[in-house]
Amino acid sequence: LKAEVLIDRDFAVGATDPRLFGAFVEHLGRCVYGGLFEPGHPEADERGFRRDVMALVKELAPTIMRYPGGNFVSGYNWEDGVGPVENRPRRLDLAWFSTEPNTFGTNEFIDWCREAGIEPMLAVNLGTRGADAARHYLEYCNHPSGTALSDLRRSHGWEQPHDVKFWCLGNEMDGPWQMERKTATEYARIATETAKMMKWTDKTVELAVCGSSARNMPTFGEWEYTVLDHTFDHVEFISLHTYFNNYAHDTAAFLASPDLMDSFIDEVVAIADAVAAKRRSSKRIMLSFDEWNVWYRTRGKGEGRAKPGWPEAPQILEEIYTMEDALTFGGACISLLNHADRVKSACLAQLVNAIAPIMTETGGPAWRQTIFHPFAQMSNLGRGNVLRSKVNSPTYSARYYDPRGAEELYYPMPEVPYVKVASVHNEDDKTLTLFVLNRHLDESITLDLDARGFNDLTLDHALELRHDDLQITNTKDAPDTVSPVALDGVQVQGGRVQATLAPASWNVIRLK
Ligand code: AHR
Repeated sequence: LKAEVLIDRDFAVGATDPRLFGAFVEHLGRCVYGGLFEPGHPEADERGFRRDVMALVKELAPTIMRYPGGNFVSGYNWEDGVGPVENRPRRLDLAWFSTEPNTFGTNEFIDWCREAGIEPMLAVNLGTRGADAARHYLEYCNHPSGTALSDLRRSHGWEQPHDVKFWCLGNEMDGPWQMERKTATEYARIATETAKMMKWTDKTVELAVCGSSARNMPTFGEWEYTVLDHTFDHVEFISLHTYFNNYAHDTAAFLASPDLMDSFIDEVVAIADAVAAKRRSSKRIMLSFDEWNVWYRTRGKGEGRAKPGWPEAPQILEEIYTMEDALTFGGACISLLNHADRVKSACLAQLVNAIAPIMTETGGPAWRQTIFHPFAQMSNLGRGNVLRSKVNSPTYSARYYDPRGAEELYYPMPEVPYVKVASVHNEDDKTLTLFVLNRHLDESITLDLDARGFNDLTLDHALELRHDDLQITNTKDAPDTVSPVALDGVQVQGGRVQATLAPASWNVIRLK
């Protein structure tokens, strides 16, 4: 089998925004406690930040980090997480039915981000709270001094403002599982007023409104239109969330599912632009894909989202990722890259332990899950202009199962190309990087790529991620079972690249 791909140096989709390569830290299970923060751990620094986790985070290279939730934020009092640790309250967290000790809060998070070289992205609580708490949180973080809240931050030991630029107006406010879920109009109103007050507090911030919590929500579409119709003049972004599943044990359909992410993005762009058109506005709302990953074994039909007894940092959502998960995940990376013109921010959900690329043992080591590798490669190598790829690949048909509550929903996908590609051209370091997925489960496919306008390419390096056992995982004792290895046999001549893509493989080809 053969897949022909045509790209042209002059036909760019858009430049990747640095914020496309973000991730997410929620107060959820062992993401914070026992994850990136574990005072007393042999690897912990004087602030309790685990150095082993920090080293892996730097290798993963996320650029922006969303915090503190997620569902958690809809019941969060930001004040609980600042000031002397001994005075901070322990609270019931109704998002994950656990006890929140509040020994890690906003200031610790900002310090952690600074050390990691990551931009912070904060979410405000538009569930149990509203515009007033949001503007106070922003004032505490970003106002230099001379007001009660900015001086409170200084008295807590953070003299300089945190200067957080990117803020999310709540989280998944359409979801029945959310504390104080709202109708589209209720949310649109509170988001508008909050946005106005936040911009009056600090005109430099950028704001993201909540889109639907999934494409399969019954109100998808209508929700986006209503919310943007109210908030259009006050915000820069609308959020999207997607979690892929293989409940059906149908690997071919699972690997096809990232193509639905492409449709989802196109649909949200169309709605945002319809709102602009109604106003005859040239403003373009950008997309913040601020939660995406594979997640199903520890969700809904799986283990559920809580352990009894209101535990602190329970072992929940600790999805152990397989080789096949890394392939679907890689497909999602390609979808995001190929929409670089409108998806200007995205967050892998999440970072450590809870549906995460990095796993830890509390008191023990940290290691990379299978999905770590496509993300690290995308973030480290995917900066530049994404080129439009014309792909002529053999196709297959699939039926993706994506249940919504008790409803059994299937999505027919009649023509899924076996080969999915993103090409990124970096003019500064003069590289062209190809991210290529072969979704054929049994056959190798010859990639034949014609890179027009690139006349003298040479191979820098090529890597593949594959394993004969698609259910294999990385474990504490065998952490490198699934890791990239050299992809041999890549031939480059002028602007022509040929490679043999193994069945069920993720490939990265770096050309200079
Ligand atoms: O990332 C896990 C959860 O998924 C988030 O808290 C929520 O926003 C989404 O439903």
